[in-house]
Amino acid sequence: MSKPIRLAILGSGNGTNAQQISEYFAGRDDVQVVCIIYNVKDAYIAQRAHNLGIEARYFGRKDFYENNAVLDYLHEKQADWVILAGFLWLVPQAMLDAYPQRVINIHPALLPKYGGKGMYGHHVHEAVVAAGETESGITIHIVDENYDRGTILEQAHCSVTPDDTPDTLAAKIHLLEKEYFPRVIDRTIHAR
Ligand code: GAR
Repeated sequence: MSKPIRLAILGSGNGTNAQQISEYFAGRDDVQVVCIIYNVKDAYIAQRAHNLGIEARYFGRKDFYENNAVLDYLHEKQADWVILAGFLWLVPQAMLDAYPQRVINIHPALLPKYGGKGMYGHHVHEAVVAAGETESGITIHIVDENYDRGTILEQAHCSVTPDDTPDTLAAKIHLLEKEYFPRVIDRTIHAR
């Protein structure tokens, strides 16, 4: 049997997507989540990693952008793909060079709308509701050097009704993320 494909997950916050991806691949012998990396101290994603029995490590800004500590760690863990699951910083160029077309992100809107710097998490849902949109959704895409711009792998839609608030929209989006993100990762990493 060939070696398992090794995934590193990067996150910044709650970690629901990281958990869903990890649970989806648990028990599979062809794919392994080898580590969860986070950049916000005390983020709940660390607790989730602990509960899942997955190695988690915090790295700060210097480790990402100056001393290559994150990249060294990814190499040490022999990660084949990097999965951004609620990771809120621009991916360093050195990481993109080391993982060309092998960094995948999820964005909680229908890109190119509601993307770009500062458009993350709740800010996206607030903007969508404030604009009176009648639909939103998720975009799963390959990461390049610009925020939210790389090749789109999948989009899924949901309705936005007049009584939706940013919170109720976030709940709809989380359902889509759960349904699509692990499956799109699975499909993409096996297509190379
Ligand atoms: C998710 O909704 C994800 O789509 C979004 O952050 C949330 C993280 O939640 N990502 C972005 O906004 C990226 N620009 P989680 O930590 O519970 O998975």
